[in-house]
Amino acid sequence: MDSALQVLMNRRSVRSFESKQISEEELNQIVSAGLQAATALGSQSWYLTVVQDQQFLKEISEATASALYDSEVPSLQERSRQANFSPFHNAPTVIFVSSTDSLYSIADCANACQNMTLAATALNLGSCYIGSFVQGLKHPKGRDLVKKFELPEGYSPLFAVAIGTVKGELPPLKSREWKVNYIR
Ligand SMILES: Cc1cc2nc3c(=O)[nH]c(=O)nc-3n(C[C@H](O)[C@H](O)[C@H](O)COP(=O)(O)O)c2cc1C
Repeated sequence: MDSALQVLMNRRSVRSFESKQISEEELNQIVSAGLQAATALGSQSWYLTVVQDQQFLKEISEATASALYDSEVPSLQERSRQANFSPFHNAPTVIFVSSTDSLYSIADCANACQNMTLAATALNLGSCYIGSFVQGLKHPKGRDLVKKFELPEGYSPLFAVAIGTVKGELPPLKSREWKVNYIR
């Protein structure tokens, strides 16, 4: 199989990371891959924020734990009470992708995230696409944290990609339904 296809077929969400930081070269390759994604009308309606400040990630994690707790959904409340709870699975690097409210910005941001997870896979790093932290940034405990992103006017954090060295065994690939129709 072509190596690009091998990377595509090998990507999976990793939720257990070593605390060791990724290299600057790996980070630059992953960010470049994100910025190489397709965007509607070439608008690049995204803004990337690389966070390696563990204290900042902890603050977002605590706000997310509060949001999960306040959801009153028992399974989410149980997650929020886990020791060392982190919506980023304690990855050493988290790349946040912020969107605008333009029509295709969500798609642009999603494409950047997917490219970054594929780049991480190609570099033998683990990665996980993350959406749950947004609840934390909307929670009263997290609202002020958005300012720390220093985003340009009109952008809000939408997705993130957690990245690091895989701790332990790679999780198995999840199977897919062949949800495909052929009209020939
Ligand atoms: C938009 C989006 C948001 C996601 N948010 C989370 C999340 O908050 N936490 C998490 O652990 N995984 C999250 N995931 C990862 C999915 O759970 C994962 O891709 C799915 O279960 C399929 O598993 P795989 O990636 O290993 O193939 C998200 C994926 C997408 C596309």
